[in-house]
Amino acid sequence: MADTLTLRRPDDWHVHLRDGALLQAVAPATARQFARAIVMPNLSPPITTVAAARAYRERIHAAAGAGFTPLMTAYLTDDTDPAELERGQAEGVFTACKLYPANATTNAAAGVTDLAKLERVFETLQRIGLPLLIHGEVTDAAVDVFDREEVFIERHLAPLLQRHQGLKVVLEHITTAEAADFVRAGGPRVAATITPHHLHINRNAMFRGGLRPDFYCLPVAKRERHRRALVAAATSGDPTFFLGTDSAPHPRSAKESACGCAGIYNAPFALESYAAVFEQEGALQRLEAFASEHGPRFYGLPLNEGTITLERCDQLVPQRLGEGDLSLVPFHAGELLSWRLA
Ligand code: DOR
Ligand code: ZN
Repeated sequence: MADTLTLRRPDDWHVHLRDGALLQAVAPATARQFARAIVMPNLSPPITTVAAARAYRERIHAAAGAGFTPLMTAYLTDDTDPAELERGQAEGVFTACKLYPANATTNAAAGVTDLAKLERVFETLQRIGLPLLIHGEVTDAAVDVFDREEVFIERHLAPLLQRHQGLKVVLEHITTAEAADFVRAGGPRVAATITPHHLHINRNAMFRGGLRPDFYCLPVAKRERHRRALVAAATSGDPTFFLGTDSAPHPRSAKESACGCAGIYNAPFALESYAAVFEQEGALQRLEAFASEHGPRFYGLPLNEGTITLERCDQLVPQRLGEGDLSLVPFHAGELLSWRLA
């Protein structure tokens, strides 16, 4: 077995970097692992304008240091002006825009209440080739939490793709076999990101020995058969699927509370986490395409120059990172990972 694995520098096509002190705390971890990242706009208030995205990009640059490129996204609301998206793309600020169904997740209160309100936005996105990134869950209280992705696909995504046949869509952080099948069948204009946590855990993880807030994220992890389908998709070599960590840090006090926040902080060991899955599947030779090629090809961006190297070397993931208000529990806390980023 090889003891090192050298890959073209990878990118993270879905990450939450937050703002303020938390941004300072987490941005270096992403910048250490990835050359570029698609940065989620769900701040409070959300990033809805070119000016706000430009200013946020500056703060990320300052926190992450040189050599890391944040790719900014616009948060869609019922009132999004398509001209603002077009201008943001023309000025090199927006790489994509993000659709949160209203109240679907963290800071999604200002999200979209009805896709019908965005028809002009979708027409513009299609015309200018700006990708639409979707949090694919319905918020209908009558729909079981574990079915919300599947129902979103049937009720909203399939009709949307039918109405706008040239729209480029990424279904983010897919969690079900049905989502993987749907995206695979959608042709080259439809893709999906897959997180490390949805490849490693099924829904039992949230209840092992008690209630485990560190494994709670949205969309919530599903049954083992779904995890197996995601592993098959990610490791298949199909360019439809690419790396997006959905690293979503919340301080421990916000996770370990009577109403704990959704999100798993996986940025510090993300590549090691993906490598473990690919190795288990005998697919390490396909990790590079998943991590470094499929994403830029979908987005129409150049592949990164340069490489990173993973070494076979056990590392124990700490139980906690950071202090006080910024104490975070990393994904794989207390576990041994058998690859290490050199
Ligand atoms: O678990 C999640 N956390 N899912 C999301 O969709 C949002 C994210 C966050 O921002 O905390
Ligand atoms: Zn996310």
